[in-house]
Amino acid sequence: MSFRKSIAAWMKKRFGVTLDPATEIYSLIGSKEGLGHLPLAYLNPGDVALVPDPAYPVYKNATLLRAGSRTFCRFSKRMTFCRILRVIPGAVLKKAKILFLNYPNNPVAAVASRAFWRRSWPSQKKHHLVVAYDNAYSEMYYEEPPLSFLEIPGPKRWGSNFIRFPRPTT
Ligand SMILES: Cc1ncc(COP(=O)(O)O)c(C=O)c1O
Repeated sequence: MSFRKSIAAWMKKRFGVTLDPATEIYSLIGSKEGLGHLPLAYLNPGDVALVPDPAYPVYKNATLLRAGSRTFCRFSKRMTFCRILRVIPGAVLKKAKILFLNYPNNPVAAVASRAFWRRSWPSQKKHHLVVAYDNAYSEMYYEEPPLSFLEIPGPKRWGSNFIRFPRPTT
């Protein structure tokens, strides 16, 4: 628990975000392990995960192992996230349960602005997507420190879009 409390203190200091160490923070042997197991825990066969292309390969591979089905979104500068959700067929969106996002991005190094998060959040909420936001590179930057998705008003308040962990009994 002391490790989770330290993470909560860091999240508060770095992003100004308050998290409950008991139910909103989980310790892993690496973020790859968490990303790899998330589809196993959350998706059922036939469910769709929205996976950017290009992206860190674990999102796609873990989804394939569990659900055998996914949609690739080709992200480009001109194709904003909201527009991508509009071009995905409704039937696919209905089956979509997770959206993987990663900024600062591997492999393209793109960074998400506060405006990006503000604009994209309503679509994520509308489609009841769990946002698997991979912030592995939050501390790699030259000037402006990258944001956390949890900093924008919305995601934290709409807790239904979070996977909450059962409170430990000990
Ligand atoms: C985008 C991204 N997420 C997660 C990871 C995995 O990091 P970890 O070493 O914490 O498992 C990597 C490692 O390359 C990565 O590039």
